[in-house]
Amino acid sequence: MARPGGVAVLLLLMVPGLSAVGFPGLSHLVPAASDEVQSEAVQQLCRRLLGPRANDFVLTVRQQRPAGAGAPAPAFELSSLPDGRVQVLGTTGVAAAGGLYWYLRTFCGCHISWSGRQLQLPTPLPRLRRVLQITAPDRFHYYQNVCSYSYSFVWWDWDRWEREIDWMALSGINLALAFTGQEAIWQRVYLSLGLTQAEINDYFVGPAFLAWARMGNMHSWAGPLSDSWHKNQLNLQHRILQRMRSLGMLPVLPAFAGFVPASFTRLFPKENFTRLGSWGHLNCTYSCSYLLDPESAVFQQVGKMFLLELIKEFDTDHIYSADAFNEMTPRSSDPRYLSSISNAIFKSMTQVDPLAIWLMQGWLFLNKPWFWRPTQVKALLHGVPLGRMIILDLFAESRPAYSLTESFYGQPFIWCMLHNFGGNTGMYGTVESINRGPFKARAFPNSTMVGTGITPEGIEQNDVVYELMNEISWCQKPLNLTEWAVSYAQRRYGKRNDAAATAWLLLFRSVYNNTSYMQNHNRSPLVHRPSLKLGTALWYNKTDVYEAWNRMQKAVSELNSSDTFRYDLVDLTRQSVQLLASEFYEDIKTAFLQHSIVGLWTSGDTLVHNLLRDLDSLLSSDGHFLLGHWLGTARSLATTEKEANLYEFNARSQVTLWGPDGNLLDYANKQWGGLVKDYYAARWELFVSTLIRCLEMKIPFRQAHFNQEVFEVEQNFIVNRVKYPDKPIGNTVEIAKKIFLQYYPQAMKRNN
Ligand SMILES: *[C@@H]1O[C@H](CO)[C@@H](O)[C@H](O)[C@H]1NC(C)=O
Ligand SMILES: *[C@@H]1O[C@H](CO)[C@@H](O)[C@H](O)[C@H]1NC(C)=O
Ligand SMILES: *[C@@H]1O[C@H](CO)[C@@H](O)[C@H](O)[C@H]1NC(C)=O
Ligand SMILES: *[C@@H]1O[C@H](CO)[C@@H](O)[C@H](O)[C@H]1NC(C)=O
Ligand SMILES: *[C@@H]1O[C@H](CO)[C@@H](O)[C@H](O)[C@H]1NC(C)=O
Ligand SMILES: *[C@@H]1O[C@H](CO)[C@@H](O)[C@H](O)[C@H]1NC(C)=O
Ligand SMILES: *[C@@H]1O[C@H](CO)[C@@H](O)[C@H](O)[C@H]1NC(C)=O
Repeated sequence: MARPGGVAVLLLLMVPGLSAVGFPGLSHLVPAASDEVQSEAVQQLCRRLLGPRANDFVLTVRQQRPAGAGAPAPAFELSSLPDGRVQVLGTTGVAAAGGLYWYLRTFCGCHISWSGRQLQLPTPLPRLRRVLQITAPDRFHYYQNVCSYSYSFVWWDWDRWEREIDWMALSGINLALAFTGQEAIWQRVYLSLGLTQAEINDYFVGPAFLAWARMGNMHSWAGPLSDSWHKNQLNLQHRILQRMRSLGMLPVLPAFAGFVPASFTRLFPKENFTRLGSWGHLNCTYSCSYLLDPESAVFQQVGKMFLLELIKEFDTDHIYSADAFNEMTPRSSDPRYLSSISNAIFKSMTQVDPLAIWLMQGWLFLNKPWFWRPTQVKALLHGVPLGRMIILDLFAESRPAYSLTESFYGQPFIWCMLHNFGGNTGMYGTVESINRGPFKARAFPNSTMVGTGITPEGIEQNDVVYELMNEISWCQKPLNLTEWAVSYAQRRYGKRNDAAATAWLLLFRSVYNNTSYMQNHNRSPLVHRPSLKLGTALWYNKTDVYEAWNRMQKAVSELNSSDTFRYDLVDLTRQSVQLLASEFYEDIKTAFLQHSIVGLWTSGDTLVHNLLRDLDSLLSSDGHFLLGHWLGTARSLATTEKEANLYEFNARSQVTLWGPDGNLLDYANKQWGGLVKDYYAARWELFVSTLIRCLEMKIPFRQAHFNQEVFEVEQNFIVNRVKYPDKPIGNTVEIAKKIFLQYYPQAMKRNN
């Protein structure tokens, strides 16, 4: 491949990220794959992305690490070759992919996201007049939340994983969990320790709940796992790891955190087990797990067996995740005890892999602040040599923990944007904090920040905030959000359109601009079990959203051929309908309190039979909003009818009742075609008819009684296996227009 002489020299001048230098213990966290392997992997990615136009790019990986300098932060260099091709030189495969996307975004106006790609490339490619060099401010850009395995990845096949890993690389993500298939390894360990298959089957949860079993929150619910499941997941994990490694990404493997099946008490009768309390409103049939004390010999033995078996199967990049106290309280707050257990957990890793680095979520410090006082936090963190663990400051855009802990008392940390809970659909963002938070954290006195990250519980929603966060991970100073929002609209739709740009500015100053603490949990009455006491408070001015809706409608005629535009048209119409649903809910409440049967009948009918029905057909017209897709992918992983039914049960339960009795009811709510009609609307219909009956019979509304009745509706939705299309139906543009014409005038009238 032709390369002008100057470029390689310039690469040597790239400054290594300062933060990396401070922690020699992390210096071995570098890709094991050779430059050639990484170059080849990123070239293949480019071909998958651009097809024949990939020939216009020359992608090369050159690690170029000065001796003794530790591992530098990722960097790339862009230049135009005399023949018009664009050369991308990266220090890793991920850095080269990040450079490729930087070029596509900045110079070609392209856009790549979960909901679609806008990749119209100019011919010839825009020329760079000089060599452009970008070095990331930090060493790491991290991705994933332990929960995303259940809320989003659970039913994925290799094609979907491949697309995700491509997106990760293009987004500059170089550190990510690789948790798939760990139950297969556990099964081997359990069997060799002497558990029976029946005991193991009884312990494992179903696929849609694995995240919480791994964290010791629950067991036995919606299982068991079949041999075909294990085989499929092992196979997937091999392909995931191979691809991540070939791109120079560091996969984080799971390590033992102490949670064991109840039958361990049979195997080790003399051992002290801690029995945890119940979690997530589950009773002890499914919760109250057993925990081994990290200091015990059995803990060390089990931890060693697991890691040995895991590494034998998958090899390792020396970084491991373990969360022993995620949402539980240690049995003593004595600092010596806390230091000794973190030390023991670390030892259980280093006894197998002397180079082990422990990656830990910092969630616990926020979750139980009354327990984790400065002395306790410091004790736990200092049980591990400085620089041998990395803390994920998991929810730093809203509740940063580094500033409460003197930068985790010297342990390196990653500033993470959590953003999403339960994979809820619903527009939300904290753009100001995303734009400034990482810079503030780096400038904190004696900051130990080594990266930025994204840690959503569920993905495939709010593309815009992830795009923003990923771009910021390459920036040396905050962006101008006004300019950024305007260019985002243009890149996303492939065309400049003033109405669409204005819509995005309105969204940026409203739904995407919560500047104070609030979890992005969709609290809209639409997706919650009806009651007279639901909140409708918002963090934004809804007129802005309605006005953005209006602007998007104005942009339709020019942009309707863009997939990402139609996706946003659905999403913004959905958001507006969600707001309107709250208005009708208030009307229903008022009518009931005023004993107006006519009023109840009118607003109830509009909500259930018009608004929600229209919303359902709108959502059903876009492949990204389909219950049928979620259920279909679940069933497609099964090898028998029985298994398919179990997976479907898992899939339906997770997005509705969650546990057997509505334990985390509607936590993972989704606005999807099929779900709106047969679950949310069905509940509202029962609610309205119940209120009417109460007025007619002059009896009070009893929530407890209604809950019993509505529980049957909810359960029926799970067990009646009604089939939903897994392909979109209907014309989005027409349905969106009909909804707009019908409801926008009302929305504006109500707001004045
Ligand atoms: C079990 O715990 C008790 C109380 O913490 C302790 O005294 C005892 O030595 C422990 N036994 C074992 C085998 O670790
Ligand atoms: C930062 O570190 C220096 C040197 O270790 C120390 O003297 C200083 O007190 C620290 N500053 C803060 C704000 O912790
Ligand atoms: C951001 O860009 C807009 C439009 O170019 C400009 O009017 C505004 O002053 C800029 N804001 C800042 C803080 O630079
Ligand atoms: C977000 O809100 C703050 C406070 O009202 C405001 O200063 C800022 O300009 C807003 N940001 C955007 C992107 O609209
Ligand atoms: C963010 O949301 C919280 C909770 O709804 C609210 O109290 C706060 O005012 C919101 N912030 C802004 C800038 O709207
Ligand atoms: C919301 O925005 C509209 C239009 O800009 C404005 O008239 C109204 O006063 C705002 N409402 C609130 C509560 O700020
Ligand atoms: C897009 O808009 C054009 C012009 O308004 C119209 O002819 C066409 O049918 C629309 N396409 C879709 C998919 O609605």
